[in-house]
Amino acid sequence: MYFLDRRLPRPVTDALRATVLEDLPELAQIHDEELRHKAVEAWAYALAETDFPRVTAIPGEAMPGVFALKRGSQAVHLRSVARISIAIADEFAQEFPEAIVDHDIVLAGALLHDVGKAWEFDPANRRRWEADKSQAGSPALRHPVYGAHVCIAVGLPEEIAHIALGHSYEGDLMQRSLECLIVHRADHMWWSIAGGFGLLKAETAGLLESRKITPRALRTAKDRERQDDNGERADAAG
Ligand SMILES: [Fe+2]
Repeated sequence: MYFLDRRLPRPVTDALRATVLEDLPELAQIHDEELRHKAVEAWAYALAETDFPRVTAIPGEAMPGVFALKRGSQAVHLRSVARISIAIADEFAQEFPEAIVDHDIVLAGALLHDVGKAWEFDPANRRRWEADKSQAGSPALRHPVYGAHVCIAVGLPEEIAHIALGHSYEGDLMQRSLECLIVHRADHMWWSIAGGFGLLKAETAGLLESRKITPRALRTAKDRERQDDNGERADAAG
C-alpha cells in the first residue's frame, strides 16, 4: 500500500495527544467539545506522519530556512498568533457589538493554521525532496495544502481547513473568510514584528529589507545584568 511519503505513520496514542495539549495549552480554551477534541487530533495525526515527537520539536521558522527564530519553537509562534488573533476578534466584537465573529473558529484556526508544518519541516521529507526536486517537487506540498489535508482527514469543519489552506499565499487566490483574514494578518504581522524586534536569525531574514523593516539589536547579557542591578537598587530604595 502506498502512503504519501512512502512511510508508515506512527500510531496516534493518548500519550501523543497529551503532548499536543501540553505544548499548545490554549487548545483547552476552545469551547466546543468536538472542535477542541478534533483540533488535538489534527496535531497528533500530523505529528504521527513525521519524525517530530511533539509540537515543540518543530523549528520556529516561517518556512524551512526562512525567518528562523533565534530562540523558541513553532509552538511559541502558534500560541502567540492564537492570542493575537483572539485579541483582534475581541477588540472589534467589544467595540462593535453588532459585528459577528466566531471565537472558537478563530482560536482553533490560529492554533491549527500551521498544522501542515510538521510534514513540510520533517527532515526525512526534506532530504527526499532535495535529492531530486524533479521527482515530486520541493516541497511536494506546502504546509497550507498539507495542513488542509490534515484538517479534512480528522473531520474538522471546512472553516478550519480553509484557515489552514488560506492563511498564507495560497489564500491570495481565494476570498478569505473573516476568521481566516484575522489569522492571516496576525500570522504575517507576527513574523514582521519578530523581525523588527531582532528575534530572527539574520541569515534567514533577508526578506525584512523588502518590507522596509530594520531589526533592532537585542539586549546583551551585560544590559540584562545592569537592568537586574537597577531593579535590585529600586527594590532596596522602595
Ligand atoms: Fe504561521
